[in-house]
Parts: sequence; structure tokens; C-alpha cells
Amino acid sequence: MEEWNEIALGMAKEIERHVMPLFGTAKAGQTVGRNVSGDVTKFVDKVAEDIILGYLSPLNVNIVSEEVGNIDRGSEYTAIIDPIDGSYNFAAGIPVFAFSFAVFKQKKPLYAMIYEFVAKNVYEGIPGEGAYMNGHLIRVRKPVRGKEALSFYTRGRGYGLIRKVKRVRVLGAVAVELAYLAKGALDGVLDIRNYVRPTDIAAGVIIAREAGAIVADGEGNELKLDFDATKKTNIIAVNERYLLDLILEELRRK
Ligand code: IPD
Ligand code: CA
Repeated sequence: MEEWNEIALGMAKEIERHVMPLFGTAKAGQTVGRNVSGDVTKFVDKVAEDIILGYLSPLNVNIVSEEVGNIDRGSEYTAIIDPIDGSYNFAAGIPVFAFSFAVFKQKKPLYAMIYEFVAKNVYEGIPGEGAYMNGHLIRVRKPVRGKEALSFYTRGRGYGLIRKVKRVRVLGAVAVELAYLAKGALDGVLDIRNYVRPTDIAAGVIIAREAGAIVADGEGNELKLDFDATKKTNIIAVNERYLLDLILEELRRK
């Protein structure tokens, strides 16, 4: 069970082959059911997840995936996957979406991959070793005070933050945004809607941490990933401590 990078890339490429012809089509966005969190399953989600299940079932590992939920096979390995993160973008023809894969032995992260289908970038996180984009080491950048660029998902809470930073970019695929934090294209990624699931963020959390990011929950404590496809959480991921403090101060403001 050592070749997780090959397994992950194999799945990503197979999904790419099957789903890219559907990019931006009405067919991609057709509702085919509801997932375990109660959100709609789009046609493209189903196509991509069936490929994952076909790959992982023979390996007999536990699976936590967005549409099917939790499959416990009693293995010591658990794969937490979002076959397509950003499926609204995909169906709408917005080229920001990715494959997101993380694998754990018991609760210990072993390997993570995010694959951006359109930009064709492969991000990897190898715990204790580092984070990579297309085989090259990546690190978070050092932010410049007052010039930060954040991805910020809110329903209004903490909105004062948008006056404290220079740029806000909400791209609609949190896995991709965490990879951008890791490579130094964003200074922070926050979703404080109590909305993201482990499947959306597991790989991104591993990759961002390996690149030097601080990844916290909505209270500023170290974020712990639940191995449960239905558990929603807040996330605050940043490249420097002062930025976490600034964000928490804004969130506490009435
Ligand atoms: C969504 C994206 C989005 C985040 C949502 C997710 P999906 O993933 O990651 O950025 O705000 O919480 O559900 O549903 O398109 O795979
Ligand atoms: Ca998805």
C-alpha cells in the first residue's frame, strides 16, 4: 500500500478522461440524487465518484467520499475524497475545480493529492517531508501587512475583515484555494459558514500544513479532521500567526 501517488494520479487521470467532455454542459449539472449531507448530486459528481469506487474497492480500504458517504471496511487505511471539488464551477464552465484525495493510516495522514484539471497542476503533501507542485517544493509566502489576499466565505459574520486586507478572492473550490495558499498565491482561506466537509478539505489541509500554513477551526484551535462525510466545520487557514489573530479579532466583533 505504498504507491499512493500512483493510485491517486491514476484516479485523477481517469476522472479527467471521463468528465472533461462534460465541462460546462447542462448534462454535467443535472441532479441525479442527493448525497449523505443532503446536497444535490450532479451527474458529473456521480461519474467521477463511480471511477473512484472502481479503483478503491479492490484495495479494501475505508472510504469517506462526498456522495456515497462513509464506507467502513475495517481497514487501518482511510481515503477521504472529493472526486470533483467545485462541481458548480465545473457545470457552469468556470475552470476552477479539482480532484481531492487524502489517505490516512489510522488517524495519521499518509499522503494527499489535489489535481487541477484545467491548469493541470498536481499538488502533493507528504507528511514530514513537504508539499509539492508538479514535483517542485512549495511553501506559503510571507504576507505583507495590509496587502493580504484572502479567500473568505461568510454569510456576513466578520465582514469587517474585507476592509483590513487588500484582496478577497472567492473561487468556489476550497481544495484549490488551500493549494493556492500552499503555493503562496493566497495568504489565507476562511470558510466560517459551518459548511465545508472533510471531503472538501482533507487533502488541502495536509498540503497547506506541509507548506507551512497554520490550519485552525473557527475558534483558532488546531483543526481536527473528522472521518465522516456529513460533519461540517469552519476552517481558518493562514500563512502567518498575526493574520490568524487579526481574523479571530474580527470574528469576535459584534
Ligand atoms: C464546494 C466547494 C466550495 C465550498 C463548498 C463545497 P463541491 O465543493 O469546495 O468552495 O464553499 O463548501 O461544497 O460541492 O463543489 O464539491
Ligand atoms: Ca464535490
